[in-house]
Amino acid sequence: MNAFCIKKHDLGSFHCLSFLKKTSPSSQLSVFVKFVLPPSKVYSSKHWVQQTHQRTLLHTQPPLVSKLQTRVISLAQAKMTFSDSVSAGNPQAAGTIYVQGVPTQETRLTLGGSLSVSPMAIGTWSWGDSKWGYTPEMFKDIAATWDTLQDTEVGINFFDTAEIYGKGESERIIGKFLKKSKEEGKILPVIATKFVPLPWRLRFPSSLLTSLKASMERLGVDVVDLYQIHGPISLRSIEVIADSLAEAVKLGIVKSVGVSNYSISELTRMHAALAKHGIQLASNQVEFSLLRRYPETSGLIAKCHELGVAVMSYSPLGMGRLTGKYNAENPPPSGRYFSDYPMEELAPLLSVMESIAKKHNKPMSAVALNYNICKGTIPLAGARNPQQARQNAQALGWRLSEEEIAELDGVARIGRTTLFWQHG
Ligand SMILES: NC(=O)c1ccc[n+]([C@@H]2O[C@H](COP(=O)([O-])OP(=O)(O)OC[C@H]3O[C@@H](n4cnc5c(N)ncnc54)[C@H](OP(=O)(O)O)[C@@H]3O)[C@@H](O)[C@H]2O)c1
Repeated sequence: MNAFCIKKHDLGSFHCLSFLKKTSPSSQLSVFVKFVLPPSKVYSSKHWVQQTHQRTLLHTQPPLVSKLQTRVISLAQAKMTFSDSVSAGNPQAAGTIYVQGVPTQETRLTLGGSLSVSPMAIGTWSWGDSKWGYTPEMFKDIAATWDTLQDTEVGINFFDTAEIYGKGESERIIGKFLKKSKEEGKILPVIATKFVPLPWRLRFPSSLLTSLKASMERLGVDVVDLYQIHGPISLRSIEVIADSLAEAVKLGIVKSVGVSNYSISELTRMHAALAKHGIQLASNQVEFSLLRRYPETSGLIAKCHELGVAVMSYSPLGMGRLTGKYNAENPPPSGRYFSDYPMEELAPLLSVMESIAKKHNKPMSAVALNYNICKGTIPLAGARNPQQARQNAQALGWRLSEEEIAELDGVARIGRTTLFWQHG
């Protein structure tokens, strides 16, 4: 027997899974949870079933349980089914938060126990933001970038945005694309967005929930896949923010939650505060690249992995500096302030990257992104046109050798933290 069917009205205590842990043989099981929707939950049935499924996932122990399916067996909502693979036996299977072998177009990582994402994502700060010189004429290129990434062969299903990118314009642009993809019957990608806890946003959970609802409206979604705290800058405690994130999860409008720029101690506190609500902290987004190895050397990446928190690495291309496009004679435009070393100082690093890129017949950007994947992170690569998207997607399908990683480590920068924003 390799499948269990559990009928239960209230999954809150998860007794069924504890029972399985105690009694079942060591082989993997498929668990089907069926339950009757309580009348009080009919109004938000879809979200409630989904939330119940996610909470059950958090308590489901791979490799004992390999598949979890939650299904409603009464009322008109009988068609609702949520299904996930829970296996951790294969390093590339769902349940893994970072790549341990070769990242491929088919590899999927599991964030927060529920989101199934590609080993790299697309950052969309430049979509609609004047800081990146965005003008409405650029929309065509961005739309073509989205279309390119809809091609399943490219292998990327994960996008990162924020309420502050282009004052909401990045979310609005993604909302338009999601609507179009939905109309075309395409599989929708996973979207991560962020709440910026500005010091004058003091009322919680209301400020967070108001911002979240505004983001949902711009994105045109009923549920946000990954909702992140943009930076550790709130005047309120980490526990107050955790309670607000938990409230959003309980309301069924957020699937999983993450943070950004958090230090080891801030991350550990947030992880513990969310765990009290039965929620796994899904991710910490930090600047990590060949221009900033600090999250690795400080032990932050290792700590995240220990706690089951995925590391999303931002500015993995050094805001364009690691693509081979810029040099001392042709520096990047001003305003690209993360790791803004003078280009002449980066010549030795770029030269090593170039020779490795030639050896593998890959663009330099793919070397930079593959390095980030090899270090256990999910790079968020900005792309402004289809050509950049395709080049960056070449980070998948191969892996730098240990010798190449060591060579790159030798010429990479460690970087630093900042008081206001980059604690991690
Ligand atoms: N949480 C945070 O605090 C935080 C902070 C920063 C970023 N982020 C996230 O991380 C994402 C990525 O970071 P980022 O946008 O700062 O920088 P990035 O990914 O390091 O660099 C992106 C830029 O590099 C250039 N580029 C990309 N691919 C290229 C290619 N193949 N060839 C040549 N040039 C290429 C493009 O700009 P040009 O063509 O104009 O040169 C592109 O906009 C953001 O979009 C955002 O989602 C988060």
